[in-house]
Amino acid sequence: MKTKTFSVLFITLLFSGVVLNGQNSNKSVTDVILNGYSVRMFSSEPVSDQDLDLILKCGIKAPSSRNGQRWKFTVVRDTALANKAIGNINPGNVLIFVSGPESQEPAGIDFDCALATENMNIAAQSLGLGARIYGGPVRNVNSTMKQSLEIPEGYRVVTILRVGHVDKSVDAVTAASARKSYEEIVNFKK
Ligand SMILES: Cc1cc2nc3c(=O)[nH]c(=O)nc-3n(C[C@H](O)[C@H](O)[C@H](O)COP(=O)(O)O)c2cc1C
Repeated sequence: MKTKTFSVLFITLLFSGVVLNGQNSNKSVTDVILNGYSVRMFSSEPVSDQDLDLILKCGIKAPSSRNGQRWKFTVVRDTALANKAIGNINPGNVLIFVSGPESQEPAGIDFDCALATENMNIAAQSLGLGARIYGGPVRNVNSTMKQSLEIPEGYRVVTILRVGHVDKSVDAVTAASARKSYEEIVNFKK
């Protein structure tokens, strides 16, 4: 009887671990960051509600100035609408519009939104999905699409995160962008 109880408990814990941690639960955060890249080629396989929910929760968990959490996330699954913001969106992709108050007061909201976006970017990659941050279309989105996207009153879009499944033909090594050398960036004070 005791063995049976233990087995049920073990299986439950194992299952909840898989569900909570996603497909790549054995990957460390540092592995995800060091092997990550911004995806250009997505497939049309839909992002599951469960993965999306987890990604959004990771965005909410981001640190923010004075814990203000002054961000709003607008989630768009509608391909036609998403295509108006960023071209070549595949069905199944999700766009997350991260917005902050228009006033920009007190300062730092763009920084907060960027941290939330990057949390979600890393979360998506840790789940085996691909993601890309977009800043280029933001000006146009703010001037022409705020109403159709239902961006909350008094808010403006700061960044857009695209999430989807990576096209199987993409080779992660060649898709990755180079970085400047460690020596060029890091300076240890003597
Ligand atoms: C603030 C910000 C804005 C970006 N805007 C765009 C964009 O408008 N279009 C785009 O294709 N990629 C955009 N990117 C993705 C970058 O081009 C990409 O992260 C960078 O080239 C490094 O590539 P990697 O992430 O694959 O290493 C943006 C990234 C950041 C952080």
